[in-house]
Amino acid sequence: MKQHKVALLAGDGIGPEIMKEAIKVIETIEKHRDVQFKLLPASFGACAYYETGKAFPDATKEICDEADAILKGTIGLSHEESKKIPIDEQPERGALLPLRNRYQTYANFRPVSLPKGLAHFSPLKPEIIGDGIEIMIIRELVGGLYFGNKEKGTKADGTRYVHETLEYDEHQIKQILKVAFKVAQKRKKVLHNIHKSNVLKSSVLWNEILEEIAPEFPEVEVKNILVDAAATALCLNPGQFDVMVMENMFGDILSDQGGGILGSLGLMPSACIGNDKAYYEPSHGSAPDIAGKNIANPYSMIGSVALMLEMSFGMDEESKMVWQAMQSVFTKGYTTPDLSHSGSHVKIINTDKFGDLVIEELNLLLS
Ligand code: IPM
Ligand code: MG
Repeated sequence: MKQHKVALLAGDGIGPEIMKEAIKVIETIEKHRDVQFKLLPASFGACAYYETGKAFPDATKEICDEADAILKGTIGLSHEESKKIPIDEQPERGALLPLRNRYQTYANFRPVSLPKGLAHFSPLKPEIIGDGIEIMIIRELVGGLYFGNKEKGTKADGTRYVHETLEYDEHQIKQILKVAFKVAQKRKKVLHNIHKSNVLKSSVLWNEILEEIAPEFPEVEVKNILVDAAATALCLNPGQFDVMVMENMFGDILSDQGGGILGSLGLMPSACIGNDKAYYEPSHGSAPDIAGKNIANPYSMIGSVALMLEMSFGMDEESKMVWQAMQSVFTKGYTTPDLSHSGSHVKIINTDKFGDLVIEELNLLLS
């Protein structure tokens, strides 16, 4: 029997609630297939800071080092609560960025997927949605402004200043672009390169490298689009996009816009892949305003399990079934309060009931 170790970092806010549903999915797969997942829970984020004084404690690092894959929930506190924690231990800076850095998970896959059954969630008009939205945003995750040099200080005249550096070298750019070309080659063979070369020298280098490696992928057509124009195009004509590649900060912003055109960040799972380790997480925050109420939709967390099954464990068939199971639940008209609009004809259920219905569908598909 195959055995996989999975570190579970449930995190803060709604993290533990949606992680509970993800675990049910993992256990259902185990029940039907010759595979065992050894689940290794560990403390991460603000909860870890309050327990140990560190947002990413050494004990958690050891568990993650040992794991074959990491499944992460959500981290973070409200703006006011966050300010009570020293700036470098706030969960984003103290846990999430160090996690990405430790495992050099440079390739961030953020599917923006709106199957027909979910069309009523989207704020876009049906004629704009057409047959559905099916985009793969590929975001560079361990470079750029996020990880460049930072300096804050006071000038001689007393004026406060800050420097943050957008740094990339050609190896970093090449490795993410190659990932994107390979994905585009397997899909519709169109790659949208998102850049800002009319202003940023980092984009000029990025585009130069893209031109150098493009001949290795002759079947892939490259379409260059400025990041600001891409933001508009995502709203006006999302159907033109299939695979989009971009640097870290652009990817942070455009992927949230991806959630926006679907109707919720709750529909945005993600995979963060490095050469030796991968971790999987919802693209959204910990939603402290609805935490503990059992109303958050676990789609992005369960979707992250589906991505883990496919990308870390080669279980493509089971992964597809997880997606299909969730879509069936939506298609049957069920949803959680956070993913419904007033006046829409849906049957409102809680987080755990949504998980139960996914398991019911999954049991059918797997048997
Ligand atoms: C994301 C998040 C993070 C990011 C935050 C929490 C640091 O917004 O994964 O998109 O900016 O990368
Ligand atoms: Mg973000």
